[in-house]
Amino acid sequence: MKKILAIAIPAALIGALTAVLVIKNVPHKSIQKSEPTYARPYVLLDIMHQFQRYADKIYFASQAKNQQLTSWYLWKLEHSALSIAEHKTKPWSPPDVDEAALIKDMFIPAIQDIYQPVKEADWDEVNRRYETLVATCNSCHEILEHGFVNIRIPDQPIYRNQDYAIEE
Ligand code: HEC
Repeated sequence: MKKILAIAIPAALIGALTAVLVIKNVPHKSIQKSEPTYARPYVLLDIMHQFQRYADKIYFASQAKNQQLTSWYLWKLEHSALSIAEHKTKPWSPPDVDEAALIKDMFIPAIQDIYQPVKEADWDEVNRRYETLVATCNSCHEILEHGFVNIRIPDQPIYRNQDYAIEE
């Protein structure tokens, strides 16, 4: 055993040293990197991923009757929607569609309608208005020819590692 170690350890050291020398001597110019390209534009679909996540979280926070968490996710959803309303996403094509107006006139009011019943802990009303919000998601999908993306009231939270209940 000792004999094997006596050979193996120096061999490993020589190996490591050789590797370091080889890496150091690789001429930097040989690494051909392409020129930086434009960053991918921020598109509507990026926001939809946020919408889907927050719509789910709003629901389970409200089912847990957690006012603070529900309002916070409502605000997160509203904030995501503002990116479209403020033209921070790549313009939706065809150009005659004003997705910013749809968000401002139709979607943001449906979010804002939910804050008050949450504040009053009127959870039946929260549920009704949440249903309207989901209907608004689908109306916009219809208008923008994506009616096949059908959002519904969730029955299982997307994320299983979050506790929506109020901390005791
Ligand atoms: C401004 C109108 C509009 C509103 C409001 C809207 N969507 Fe969308 N959504 C779209 C469009 C357009 C697409 C297709 C985008 C594409 O193809 O790039 C889409 C696509 C999606 C997708 C498909 C992406 C995927 O990964 O499966 C999901 C999910 C989605 N929306 C969720 C929602 C949810 C949830 C809401 C409401 C909380 C909502 N959307 C509200 C316009 C809207």
